[in-house]
Amino acid sequence: MIRVVCPGSFDPVTNGHLDIIGRSARLHDEVIVAVLRNISKTTLFTVEERVEMLREVTKEHPNVRVEHFNGLIVDFCRAHDVAAIVKGLRAVSDFDYEMQMAQMNYNQAGVETMFMTTNPLYAFLSSSLVKEFARYGGDVAGLVPEPVLRKLTERLATQ
Ligand code: PNS
Repeated sequence: MIRVVCPGSFDPVTNGHLDIIGRSARLHDEVIVAVLRNISKTTLFTVEERVEMLREVTKEHPNVRVEHFNGLIVDFCRAHDVAAIVKGLRAVSDFDYEMQMAQMNYNQAGVETMFMTTNPLYAFLSSSLVKEFARYGGDVAGLVPEPVLRKLTERLATQ
């Protein structure tokens, strides 16, 4: 039984995240999507909203579940008997920091990290850019799942 974790802020989940989650679900017995409750960062969506959106857009994968976490991802891995962290790598610019985190997590807790190459369709995509474009009237349909687009439009309209 191989259980892996896909961690992130997911503020909000994008099609790039979903691609990595879906491909991980095909390769492993169970995938936990772990949503960071980040107290030091201002987020557009609460952690409960981010979890709810993720549950909705991953419901077609029976072996994916969504949880939130605080603190260190390696502690979450230990508590949930997780074999490895799965991360998407979009470009060389992601590499340095991801490598550093992977080595720190292995050094501190023996937790492995596996990298998947992002689908080139989504190589430029990030939650921050989606929010910025959506905020100023950009068309982000096709970059986020439909239920997320709806929530994003609603939220930005109230700001
Ligand atoms: O979507 P993000 O914000 O790029 O995801 C980053 C995340 C949540 C995966 C990373 O910051 C993380 O694992 N944070 C939890 C705290 C932690 O374990 N920090 C040490 C990493 S070496």
